[in-house]
Amino acid sequence: MWILSVLIVAIASNGALSMNIAPLVERNLANTILKSSRSMESNSPRNVQCFSVYLPQINEATNKYEAAYTQCLDTASNATKAVEDEVAGDRATVTQQAGGICALYQACSQKESSLDFFECYNESAGSAVTTSYDIQTLSKNRWQYVNSRYQVIAYQQQNCTDTCADAYVKETTALYAALDACLAGGGFVTPSTTSAPEPSRPAGIHY
Ligand SMILES: *[C@@H]1O[C@H](CO)[C@@H](O)[C@H](O)[C@H]1NC(C)=O
Ligand SMILES: *[C@@H]1O[C@H](CO)[C@@H](O)[C@H](O)[C@H]1NC(C)=O
Ligand SMILES: *[C@@H]1O[C@H](CO)[C@@H](O)[C@H](O)[C@H]1NC(C)=O
Repeated sequence: MWILSVLIVAIASNGALSMNIAPLVERNLANTILKSSRSMESNSPRNVQCFSVYLPQINEATNKYEAAYTQCLDTASNATKAVEDEVAGDRATVTQQAGGICALYQACSQKESSLDFFECYNESAGSAVTTSYDIQTLSKNRWQYVNSRYQVIAYQQQNCTDTCADAYVKETTALYAALDACLAGGGFVTPSTTSAPEPSRPAGIHY
């Protein structure tokens, strides 16, 4: 079984993909190994050849989809960054307005005469009401905007990783079927492989 162990270590995926689909692929692998070891000839030249043909292909498929999966996450992360950049100016406005209110109150707190003190707070509170309303209007509007953009990004990331996982599972399932057939004595067949998925984007969404 030594050759199997070496090849299996090569397959073990440790990236983002592994959290989601690796268990399924590992189950396939475990089943295949179990079958081949039950046959009491797991190190027969044919079996070794079967594994050495198909395990690298499975490994390659894993690497390919891991890269595609990582790109899904990168795209989402870049889109999130773009939204943040877009509203950075509004954040600065709100921060500045709120800071202005704080500064007004802060100045009032320094007044020695209680007459000046209360007059100052009375006036500051009056102007703070207007500014607070501006802050609320802008914040409410921007919250809705950012929330909807984030939902689109989350949807697209899910669509992308689902598409990716789907293609990965299909490809490795075909490879495992070919490996099983090979171990059962049927020669080498190369299953038709699909290329890395290109997740679609709903029209009208700009990044
Ligand atoms: C994400 O942004 C970085 C830096 O701008 C860029 O290099 C990378 O290609 C982008 N990735 C994707 C998937 O768009
Ligand atoms: C308190 O402020 C209001 C305006 O916000 C002003 O009309 C009123 O005269 C002020 N009262 C005093 C005592 O300063
Ligand atoms: C991804 O979105 C497209 C339409 O934009 C849809 O046809 C496809 O089925 C979706 N894929 C998944 C896995 O949800």
